[in-house]
Amino acid sequence: MPSNKKLLVLPGDGIGPEVMREVGRVVGWLSRRRGISFDVSEDLVGGASIEAHGVPIRDEVVQAAREADAVLFGAVGGPQWDHVGFERRPEQAILTLRKQLGLFANLRPALVLNPLVDASTLKPELVRGLDIMIVRETVGGIYFGEPRGVETLPDGGRRGVNTEVYTTFEIERVSRVAFDLARKRRGSVCSVEKSNVMESGLLWREVVTELAAREYPDVKLTHMLADNCAMQLVREPRQFDVIVTGNLFGDLLSDLTAMLTGSLGMLPSATLGTVDAAGRRPALYEPIHGSAPDIAGRGLANPLAQILSFAMLLRYSLDLEDEARTIEDACTRVLASGLRTADIMSPGMARVGTQVMGEAVQRELEKLD
Ligand code: NAD
Ligand code: IPM
Ligand code: MN
Repeated sequence: MPSNKKLLVLPGDGIGPEVMREVGRVVGWLSRRRGISFDVSEDLVGGASIEAHGVPIRDEVVQAAREADAVLFGAVGGPQWDHVGFERRPEQAILTLRKQLGLFANLRPALVLNPLVDASTLKPELVRGLDIMIVRETVGGIYFGEPRGVETLPDGGRRGVNTEVYTTFEIERVSRVAFDLARKRRGSVCSVEKSNVMESGLLWREVVTELAAREYPDVKLTHMLADNCAMQLVREPRQFDVIVTGNLFGDLLSDLTAMLTGSLGMLPSATLGTVDAAGRRPALYEPIHGSAPDIAGRGLANPLAQILSFAMLLRYSLDLEDEARTIEDACTRVLASGLRTADIMSPGMARVGTQVMGEAVQRELEKLD
């Protein structure tokens, strides 16, 4: 009997714990109907950890994440911690996990599910069938570059500094992830940077171009400046298959694609590291949305991004493609049945809260299996 997979669950702050609760139903279904059980452990991160332990993430939690087969993360942050020192902010929890576990490739799919074509702020004919994969670099770039900080100038003014840095190695490893994904999709990659104004962007373009010529001649590679990419994503989003980009542009562009799909509450993500000698690949799964303080504690949050992140976990970390797909189908069926949380509500649909949405997904799962 193989041992259970180890799952570390980190709900975090705000709506994090609310949407994570609904994943519990899916975990229950897997165990009851598919005989797949996990050793689940749960811990505090972000503001919740600051309140209990004085730090956004403890070393023990980072260690537990290293030892887990996969980490399911909720969201961190909130206005009550916006004024604490930078190193002690809740957001350090996710940044530390990415950095310490070497989680460099953040896969952010933006998929327009048929029942939701009307939830987008774009016209349905622009987004119907949309299926984009953003591959965002997550352990480099301006998020981690040195020098950084705020200094006081002789005239008493202050100077804030952050530095965009990318090396050949970093650009190649994230680009390989994008090219490999493109091979299993529609075969094209658009690389996004600002090579017209940034040296790091120019290096990015050169390195991706050389890598494509050397290792991926079968993949169609195009390049786009990040500002144009933002515009093109709204103008004609279906021109894209895989987008590969750095940390900051990836953060911005993926929130933008959320509105193509209807809501931030719909978008899952997977962040993958390097396969180690034992064949294990560190990985963390999280919705791309944050802790949504404006709706937290009111049962309004859409739990589908968190549930779909768990489906990605099954697919990428545990090779459970069938189960991942069944969960995705269940979510689509719930939407097709007309249930909507407030963020994706449209006329004629039935508005429900977080828990009813989670229960509906569970019911569809039981029907499908
Ligand atoms: P946010 O993503 O939390 O919310 C943006 C908007 O989208 C809000 O109006 C919110 O109500 C809505 N929204 C987000 N998720 C939703 C869901 N599941 N269902 C329905 N509506 C949803 O971004 P923000 O308000 O800019 O940031 C709030 C806090 O979250 C900040 O402290 C920020 O640093 C943090 N944050 C954390 C993560 C993370 O933990 N990975 C990601 C993004 C932001
Ligand atoms: C995200 C978030 C994080 C980021 C924050 C919370 C550090 O916005 O995962 O998209 O900027 O990477
Ligand atoms: Mn973000």
